[in-house]
Order: sequence, then C-alpha cells, then structure tokens
Amino acid sequence: MDIGIDRLGFYVPKKYIDLVELANKRNVDPNKFTIGIGQSKQAVPDLYQDAVTMAAESADQVLNDDNRKDIGLVIVGTESSVDESKAAATYLVELLNLPEEVRAFEIKEACYGATAGLQMAYNFVAMNPDKKALVIASDIARYGVNTPGEVTQGAGSVAMLVSENPHILKLNNKSVYMTRNVGDFWRPTFSKTAFARGKYSNEVYVDFFKTLWKKFQDKYDVTADDFSTMLFHIPYTKMGMKALRTLEGNIPDDKYNELSDHYQASIEISRNVGNLYTGSLYLGLISYLINGDVKPNEQISLFSYGSGAVGEIYSAEIQPDYTGFLNIDFIKKELSDRQKISISDYEDIFGKEVKNGDVTVLSDVHDKYYLSEIKENERLYKKLK
Ligand code: HMG
Repeated sequence: MDIGIDRLGFYVPKKYIDLVELANKRNVDPNKFTIGIGQSKQAVPDLYQDAVTMAAESADQVLNDDNRKDIGLVIVGTESSVDESKAAATYLVELLNLPEEVRAFEIKEACYGATAGLQMAYNFVAMNPDKKALVIASDIARYGVNTPGEVTQGAGSVAMLVSENPHILKLNNKSVYMTRNVGDFWRPTFSKTAFARGKYSNEVYVDFFKTLWKKFQDKYDVTADDFSTMLFHIPYTKMGMKALRTLEGNIPDDKYNELSDHYQASIEISRNVGNLYTGSLYLGLISYLINGDVKPNEQISLFSYGSGAVGEIYSAEIQPDYTGFLNIDFIKKELSDRQKISISDYEDIFGKEVKNGDVTVLSDVHDKYYLSEIKENERLYKKLK
C-alpha cells in the first residue's frame, strides 16, 4: 500500500524584518547574516499568534468537507507549546471542525517532532487505510534580542495530510534513526527563549548527518546516485549546506553539483522566513516543490534533526501530479504580501506577551485564527468570521 503526504499547507506570519537592517542595528557586517548565515528575512509573529493559531492556519489549507470526516489522528509537533498539560491538537479539533472520533495530541522533541508525527501517521494509515492523519509542525523560534541566535529566529507552520495513495510524497518506509543525549540546544520550562551552544550544535548536526547517511547507505545498499535531491532540516540556510558539503569529493562531481543546485531550490523560502523549528525540513520540501526542477517520481532523501538530539534519514518519492495538491499561488502570495516592520517595532513585539485578563482587539487581527483572550488563565481561541 502506498502511504504518504497527500496535501501540504504552509502558514507564515504577516510581518517580517529585513536582516540587513538587523545587522546594521547590531553593528554587524550584513554579509555575515546574508552570506555567513544565509538568511535575508525573518518572520515575526503577532501577539495574538502562537503555536495553536499558526497550526490552525496551515491545517485549514489542507482540509475540505470531503477529507475532514476521514481524519482519525491529529498530531501537532511543537517545541513552542502554550500549555504544559493540554495539547495544541485539542484546540484544533474545535477550531477546524474535526470529528470528535480522533486521537489528538502533541509531540515534542525539538525540531524532530513533526518527523516523529509523520512516522506515527504512516503506521496509523497502514493500520486504518480508510482514515487520514493530520500532522502539523508549528513553532516560534526565539533566542532573544541581541543574542547570537537572534539571526536564526523565525516562525510558521506546515500541515501535512497523510493518507493512502498520496498525491505529493510517497514514503518509501526506508529509514534510519538515532538518539544521543547531547546539550546542544534546550529551553527549560521557565524560559521563553532557547539556550544554545551554537558552534557545538552545528558540529552535532553535521555528525548526525554523516553517521545516518552512512547507516542509510549500508542498510539499503544505495549511494548518492540513487537520489537527485537531499532535503535537510534548515535552522538557517548555511546549516544544511555544511552537511551537504561533507559529500563533496566523496561522490561524483556532477552528482554533487546536482544536489547543490537542488539544495538551493529547497532553501529559497527558508531564507525569507527563518527557522520554523520542527517545520523547517518540510518547508524545505515545499520550497523544492515550488522552486525546483522537479521530475516525476523523483527519489529524495530527508534529513530530520532535533536538538537534544534525535536524527533520522528517510527516503520518499515525489508524486507526478503534486502541483494540484499544493496551493502554490496561495503560498507565493502569502510570502509576497507580508509587511516589513522596523527593528524597533520587532523588539517591541518581542518584549510583550499576552497576560491573564487581556482581550485581543479585533482591529489588530490580520489572520483567520487568533488568541481572543486569556481568561482565568485559560487561553481562548477564535476564528474570524
Ligand atoms: P555566530 O557565533 O554569531 O556566528 O553564531 P559565526 O561567527 O560562527 O559566523 C557564522 C558564519 O558567518 C561563519 O561561517 C562565518 O565565517 C561567517 P561558517 O564558518 O559557519 O561557514 N561570517 C561571514 N561571512 C561573510 N561575511 C562576513 C562574515 N562574518 C562571519 N563579514 C550560530 C552562528 C548559527 C552558531 C548562532 O546564530 C546560533 O547559535 N544559532 C542557534 C543555534 C542553531 O541554529 N544551530 C544549528 C544546528 S542545531 C539545529 O539545527 C536544531 C535547532 O533547529 C533547534 C531544534 O532542534 O529545536 C536549532
């Protein structure tokens, strides 16, 4: 039975900052941010937005009256949870008008969460072929104003509808994974911003890729020649390139050049959005599907990495008629219609938070789903009519 991603949705906040302006404000050479890190713009979520509202926005794009009733599993992968107990997915069942007969929960393992959800969804559909699963990655990457990680912040959400006979990506059920207890990046429950050992995190990421790629080749008796595209978790666009470069000189030059070209297509959107944490790998997939020279039934590999750390490489096949199941024009418009804000406006938003008793002023809302108020310490969400 063929199982995989049938539809993909992507949500990006309506505001962004320009990273040349950020560099100037921080007295850094702009080339460090745009070339050294490889980022141009960074998404800035509004105060009425969080992992729940952004998840609702991307999921809304993949649902219709026909497939909604077949959903049997809803998983939100996030490390930006709004509650230590209640899962983001439970809010979505009501906001998205999903059937009550679903398993809905949240998965956390840094940027690996959505991949864990996707693999779980694969097994769910294998056991229940008449059902579909909704896997959503939704995060706000926050390191803090004037920190080394600031240039690698971002926000957004990717939704994946997983089903039998998928129209976008067939998962090959070939995968290798590993876990090591490492302190490269973490966010304690008391903190709204992450802590990172930046350079060490880069080293662990590359080491995970090298280890897993060797395991994958040995386990399935394949080489780079069996793939025309390699997708990576993209915390910033230079990062995946550092992993890809480990293949240079070890595989034929024309293959390396092909993989590098395809990598460029996969990072175009991330360069203008930033780190989506657990959605980053899947934003790379969307970017490649929109900007790449995609061939029917192309074989690709996907490297998922979540700090802490868990990594996985798996393979998949792009389906020939995917363009009818990814709303390319909508995504392009979402990206181009955004509003640039000043660095001081971003700093102002960054420093604020919605508190108990606060009610969102409706005229401030520019999205479909929003946090309407916090009442008795409970977060309440609404959909704009
Ligand atoms: P930094 O110390 O500010 O930067 O931190 P740097 O000094 O390492 O410079 C960065 C690059 O810019 C270097 O290139 C410099 O040479 C270059 P590289 O050697 O890396 O190729 N550079 C310049 N280039 C052109 N013109 C110039 C110039 N100056 C310097 N004038 C760091 C950078 C990424 C470490 C920091 O932003 C950070 O800590 N970010 C957060 C951690 C992170 O993103 N780690 C990635 C791996 S871990 C991961 O992916 C998991 C994660 O997504 C979390 C999760 O799983 O949930 C983060």
